[in-house]
Amino acid sequence: MKVVVIGTGYVGLVSGACFADIGHDVTCIDKNPDISARLERGEIPIFEPGLSDVVGRNIARGRLAFASSPASSVPSADVVFIAVGTPPGGSGDADLSYVRAAAGELALCLSGYTVIATKSTVPVGTNRAVARIVRAASPDANFDVASVPEFLREGSAVSDFAAPDRIVVGTDNARAADVLRQLHQPLLEGRSDRFVLTGVETAELIKYSANAFLAVKITFINEIANLCERVGADVEDVARGMGLDSRVGRWGLSAGPGYGGSCFPKDTLALAHDAAKAGAPIRLVETAIEVNDARKKSLADRVSSVIGGSVAGKTVAVLGITFKANTDDVRDSPAIDLARGLLAAGAQVRVFDPEGAPHARSLLDGVTWWPSTVEAAAGAHVATIVTEWDHFKPGRLDMDALKAAMVTPVLVDFRNLFDPTVAAAAGFTYVSVGRQPALPEGA
Ligand SMILES: NC(=O)c1ccc[n+]([C@@H]2O[C@H](COP(=O)([O-])OP(=O)(O)OC[C@H]3O[C@@H](n4cnc5c(N)ncnc54)[C@H](O)[C@@H]3O)[C@@H](O)[C@H]2O)c1
Repeated sequence: MKVVVIGTGYVGLVSGACFADIGHDVTCIDKNPDISARLERGEIPIFEPGLSDVVGRNIARGRLAFASSPASSVPSADVVFIAVGTPPGGSGDADLSYVRAAAGELALCLSGYTVIATKSTVPVGTNRAVARIVRAASPDANFDVASVPEFLREGSAVSDFAAPDRIVVGTDNARAADVLRQLHQPLLEGRSDRFVLTGVETAELIKYSANAFLAVKITFINEIANLCERVGADVEDVARGMGLDSRVGRWGLSAGPGYGGSCFPKDTLALAHDAAKAGAPIRLVETAIEVNDARKKSLADRVSSVIGGSVAGKTVAVLGITFKANTDDVRDSPAIDLARGLLAAGAQVRVFDPEGAPHARSLLDGVTWWPSTVEAAAGAHVATIVTEWDHFKPGRLDMDALKAAMVTPVLVDFRNLFDPTVAAAAGFTYVSVGRQPALPEGA
């Protein structure tokens, strides 16, 4: 099938390249001339494991192309995906201006029957608004709209595409449903029960409900971690004991610095906003937002409390700036809140992240950037692990070199990567999340 993907960010580029990989003829369009020019040169503007190989082999096969305008590819497309950003608007609602603009632009290029499918995460009613925009711009066009929300996770997006937990298609139209089933057929072999066909509004709401549920789950274990610290319990064991219950499940039960990233924060806000507006407020989600925001803002205080109550004049190494490992995405990353809080409290902040620096530099005035853990830790009074990169895990992190580089061997681990007794045996004062602090032998 001929597929066009509008917007080549984390979602559009991955799904476009992966649709080409399963045999479709794909054109990815980005109106940012810098992004489309880099893609046309074969450069991948984002870091996503495995993506460069998929893009490279499908360009070579002639199944994947890039453009900065929809004019040449949309007329022959069977399916046009809208995969542009939906950032937070001013009052917590989703900013749909990019979706509307994309709909207006593609409408002028339609020819023959086309399914317009929205992959962007959009509030209930958006796909119907897209249909109205297209109809107004192109009254004779032959098209149907569908909501096809995306569930891939940054860091494992390529493998998520190949083995999706489910493919959700929301449309009122049987022909559009057929086209979209055929498009996804290679991903459904032996798993046809994973194709969830539903109405447009329901599909739109499935995406928000899934993200909000996961955000609440993460927030729940973070609050349990607070309690563990007070009562001498161990949140890792609590999470294991809970997660082995198949009704609960293990995912999301990793206590940490609070959820961040380009989806959970903005999607919880948008759902809470829209639900309140519809007269059905979701207080659980409203509270999760509040609790998570407060947690991210308290990270610097937590570091201060570990080294005597103040970081003023102290040097702090921040290890990891992305919101999670295996991505270069720093949107709403807790590490940014931490670094800002430390700077505001008068600390000198030295940062290392394997991939995140290019995106984070403009967000953080006043920190210094270093190309390795040990260099970031040079002269530090405390080192903080904020992202769960392999670089900071036992076996990869050279504890002796880290200790030798620091003024005082204090490690605050917001990801619980170490066994506290092992960190203490390596000579560190070790403070993690939802577990008791560990002191070096003899301290
Ligand atoms: N990032 C994720 O992990 C993820 C996962 C699932 C769903 N989503 C949703 O998918 C959508 C896209 O997210 P993203 O992270 O890929 O966004 P992104 O910001 O990384 O990429 C969006 C791209 O769209 C381009 N664009 C905007 N308007 C355009 C237009 N009119 N024509 C062509 N290109 C245009 C921008 O230049 C940008 O490159 C959002 O709604 C998001 O909530 C994201």
